[in-house]
Amino acid sequence: MKLKIAIDGPSGSGKSTLAKNIAKALGLVYVDTGALYRTVGLYASRCGIAIDDAAKVAALLDGARVSLRYSDGTQRVYLGDEDVTELIRTPEISMYASAVSKVPAVRKYLLEVQKKMASEGGVVMDGRDIGTVIMPDADVKLFMDTDMQTRAQRRYEEMSQKGIESTREEVLRDMAKRDKNDSERDISPLTPADDAIFLDNSRMEPEETLAAALKIINDRLSRSI
Ligand code: DC
Repeated sequence: MKLKIAIDGPSGSGKSTLAKNIAKALGLVYVDTGALYRTVGLYASRCGIAIDDAAKVAALLDGARVSLRYSDGTQRVYLGDEDVTELIRTPEISMYASAVSKVPAVRKYLLEVQKKMASEGGVVMDGRDIGTVIMPDADVKLFMDTDMQTRAQRRYEEMSQKGIESTREEVLRDMAKRDKNDSERDISPLTPADDAIFLDNSRMEPEETLAAALKIINDRLSRSI
């Protein structure tokens, strides 16, 4: 059986760290769907489009060639022939990604590549609508339920380590704005699937989060045999 694991949750909840660790532990391919929205955001920003100009964002999709490639089992994201994996991690592009992800044409444009990866199975995918839209048939759906202060602190430390200048207040403000955008949009908002299992890792180290997730996965799978 080719496992399908969905992880959804807000920014800074540790989804990607957990997804990478699960992929390693269970020999699955990790698909970071946020990178796709970030790449469309980068493209919009490079084209000089205002962050809230949905019509212009929709119009430029024909020229945006966004693709995922794998190198040594690690996901890289491309805009045309350019590897933009690192470039999409700035605070500016985070806000662009959240803004473009509200545009129905963008979600439709990115649906196919995600559905294709999902249909192949053997994957752990993270995002906002994986359990509800991309992999409603996932074997296990986790929803990260991490408190806001913890998420902001983790994101601040991550950015400091990468040398991206920001204050705690800015990180918290951007995060609150993105949470609002991502959970209140009309189309595929961040929302737990009916059969999602909540995982609150606010007081957990990454290894503890992995152990808790693997227990949930094992319990779920042994019940479905
Ligand atoms: O997971 P992330 O923070 O890298 O995602 C960046 C943005 O992309 C996020 O603010 C909302 C959007 N996104 C989405 O709408 N649906 C997904 N499945 C993944 C990300």
